[in-house]
Amino acid sequence: MPVVPMKQILDEAAKGAYGVGAFNVNNMEQIQGIMRAASETGSPVIIQASRGALKYTNMVYIKHLVQAALEENPDIPLALHLDHGNSLQTCKEAIELGFSSVMIDGSLKEDSKTPTTFEQNLEVTKSVVDYAHRYGVTVEGELGTLGGIEDGVGSGQVKLTDPQEAIKFIELSGVDALALAIGTSHGAYKFKAKPELALDIISSISEKLPDFPLVMHGSSSVPQELIDIINRYGGKLQSTMGVPMESIQEGIKRGIRKINVDTDGRLAMTGAVRKVLTQTPDVFDPRKYFGAARQAVYEVVKGKMQDFGTAGHAGDYQPLTLEDMKKYYS
Ligand code: G3H
Ligand code: 13P
Ligand code: ZN
Repeated sequence: MPVVPMKQILDEAAKGAYGVGAFNVNNMEQIQGIMRAASETGSPVIIQASRGALKYTNMVYIKHLVQAALEENPDIPLALHLDHGNSLQTCKEAIELGFSSVMIDGSLKEDSKTPTTFEQNLEVTKSVVDYAHRYGVTVEGELGTLGGIEDGVGSGQVKLTDPQEAIKFIELSGVDALALAIGTSHGAYKFKAKPELALDIISSISEKLPDFPLVMHGSSSVPQELIDIINRYGGKLQSTMGVPMESIQEGIKRGIRKINVDTDGRLAMTGAVRKVLTQTPDVFDPRKYFGAARQAVYEVVKGKMQDFGTAGHAGDYQPLTLEDMKKYYS
């Protein structure tokens, strides 16, 4: 099966009132762990690569690893998505590589640090929509800014999404999905205590635009057990809190369809590698610790597919192609 347009995966999730995890990847073990979880739970899935991931993998490796995942899992609808594209040029490169979806994060300037105005965001987002839709590729935009800085990405400031502006932005830009700032942030250090997210923002938009797919970034739950494993085997992570699963599930009820998760996979892998290397210091076969990391990603992702309600929906629909989407958009 070829890559599936992300729009279809999200529109089907809206029909079924469930969420779909979008998992960040940088290597083969992450892709294999995610695909095993998708296959065993019968879940559609979104695999996403950041600009950092594309640089790390020299672009072309991601494409071919995902090709292998598609070949091995012909019954799983799989979208390949660019996470936090910073310019039309970056989105063009991802489309050229065969991504079925791109995010243009126009909430920040091309430096991925400086917040933009509504008009600046709209201008760059519209240029990506006009380009991507010609190729049948889905576009995710973002309005409002998240807190947290990952590898130099993010302004560090928070500006929650204004629902009225979001509706205007969706209508004027033609995006297929919109990322909201509702109080989450990227990375492991999100909150010191149990957070109250601004879930009303989701409801206000969904009331006006029912079934329009909304996106929650910074959705890792940062489970204490994963922090504990890392610290038990020599790590030094401070105590922290992520987004509670109940808040994500409440978000899904209100209209969140795409849930971005990177940090939890990173924590799971790090803990697994540390554990193997600490418990068996004579090990020098990378398959031993990368295999454990792959198993840890699988377990974390499988749990999320069940908790987001994605499990069991892989066979609900006949996947569309990018050719089908070209006709749809034209
Ligand atoms: O949005 C941030 C993701 O966690 C990607 O992080 O840019 O370090 O790959 P990265
Ligand atoms: P986390 O850092 O919470 O996993 O968020 C990842 C994300 O939003 C990627 O776009
Ligand atoms: Zn993000």
